[in-house]
Amino acid sequence: MDAFSKILKERYLVTAALPYANGRLHVGHIAGAYLPPDQFVRFLRLAGREAHFICGSDENGAPITFSAMKEGVGPQDIIDRYHAINEKAFADLGIAFSIYGRTHCPRHEEISREFFVRLHEQGHIQKKTSSQVFCTECGMFLPDRYIEGTCYYEDCGRTGARGDQCEACGRTIDATKLIDPECMICRMQKRASRGHIEVRETEHWYFRLETFQDDLRKFVDAHPEWRETVKRFSYGLLDQGLRERAITRDLPWGVPVPLDGAEGKVLYVWFDAPIGYITFTRQYFESLGEPEKWKEFWQNSGTGLVHFIGKDNTVFHAVIFPGMLMAHGDYRLPDAVVSNEFLNLEGDKISTSRDYAVWVDEYLKYFSPDVLRYYLTAIAPEASDSDFVWKDFQVRNNGELADNLGNFIQRTLGFVAKYFDSRVPEAEVTTDTGKAMLEEIKTARREIGELLAGCRFKAALERLMRFSRSGNQFFAEETPWQSRKTDMNACAATLLVGMRIVEALSVFMYPFLPFSAAKLREMLNLPALIDGDWHTAAKLAPGHELGKAEVLFPKIEDEAIAPHLA
Ligand code: 2FM
Ligand code: ZN
Repeated sequence: MDAFSKILKERYLVTAALPYANGRLHVGHIAGAYLPPDQFVRFLRLAGREAHFICGSDENGAPITFSAMKEGVGPQDIIDRYHAINEKAFADLGIAFSIYGRTHCPRHEEISREFFVRLHEQGHIQKKTSSQVFCTECGMFLPDRYIEGTCYYEDCGRTGARGDQCEACGRTIDATKLIDPECMICRMQKRASRGHIEVRETEHWYFRLETFQDDLRKFVDAHPEWRETVKRFSYGLLDQGLRERAITRDLPWGVPVPLDGAEGKVLYVWFDAPIGYITFTRQYFESLGEPEKWKEFWQNSGTGLVHFIGKDNTVFHAVIFPGMLMAHGDYRLPDAVVSNEFLNLEGDKISTSRDYAVWVDEYLKYFSPDVLRYYLTAIAPEASDSDFVWKDFQVRNNGELADNLGNFIQRTLGFVAKYFDSRVPEAEVTTDTGKAMLEEIKTARREIGELLAGCRFKAALERLMRFSRSGNQFFAEETPWQSRKTDMNACAATLLVGMRIVEALSVFMYPFLPFSAAKLREMLNLPALIDGDWHTAAKLAPGHELGKAEVLFPKIEDEAIAPHLA
């Protein structure tokens, strides 16, 4: 029995929202859905748990189709380009998935089709005819967001209303009723965009989500521990009363609907994307030669299944996808859906269309991955929106990483190199202060671990930094530079405790700062961390020879920040 037995299961499957392969990743994505699960998985493994981390590109549906049209290339070009760019950006940031799959592949089509057919056979899917907006120039039905016109509410009547909502009066719009409608795709492609829009009938298939109203409420009720926003959004949808939802679209790109008479129709991207988690899990275990093992995570609720997502994906993961899983019948439900609020940039909303963002690949040309990981965790939008501010990024790097964590490691290793010939000192720790510090290592291990196990990453990082500060304070108060001249045993004991703290830091900082933790392990001449090391007793024996010390966290100068302060 270890310290986390009560909160953690033995084995986990952790998923991160599948990003659309139609654009680059920015810091908002990372803070929202990718850094938290990476920290969680790294911690789980250190704590001796089995953990698999599933993600991949979301490559179907409207977002991809329309990005391709906008750029005047084929959808395949778009997904190939951004899949490669995003996979690399994640790897460079140390977001280490077990698999980074792709939903535009035959295997995923097969698994999604099987899922749809099963729901269809069991009577959970129903066909209906509806009226939708069709552009004869484009030769296709238009998604609501690609239609603009004049708002038909008499007291509004303003132009620029979208097919789903009028921005001016805020009311929901029925696209087929917009006055003087305009096709945004035609506009994007610089052809005449008015005068050739018709309302036509089309058939679609609907998932009867309402069947699961009571069971889904029970499911959410069973999780009072979820974050407030996840519960609020879930109850919001449940309280409105669940309704059938269209799960097919008239689009040229996506998973074809596997029914006769459905030519030209594809599955709605929000139907196939979450099934992508299942596809990728299966592909991953198949690649490991364990083709049945996916079932342990998707069919057996003794294991942990946790979805990490951004706020705008909440109801899909906490209500709709669980409804699909219930309808299918062969699946268990997730234990947790962990979402984050939004990250702003210098007080403004991050916007891809306005190119207002800190792009991960751009960032990495100038600064290190760990500093971003640190900053995004320190300001994590766990309970409310937060703000990326370049000046604050610099101040925290310099004041916290460099002056607190880096400084403590530096001065301890520097002292040992200089006065103990780079060897861990031999000494007995007899003072109350020294014993208290050794005790603090144990307390920090337990408390940081409990916070990480509970997905409270920001608080866990604060606790780590408090631990490092106490190390600095201990060093300052023990004044080893004086005892070195008067009482060599006392000096050696101080540095022995110091080395124990540094070693503990190299473990505790790993979920947050994996690159720096690895470097520190080398500086300590210790092996790379392995699963279970959270609990491993100190390996630094007296006499152990240390490696060469380097600066872990250089300061960031004003000049380095200046270009980003536009
Ligand atoms: O919002 C998005 O970026 C979607 N591509 C997320 C999909 S998550 C999951 F269901 F695959
Ligand atoms: Zn058009």
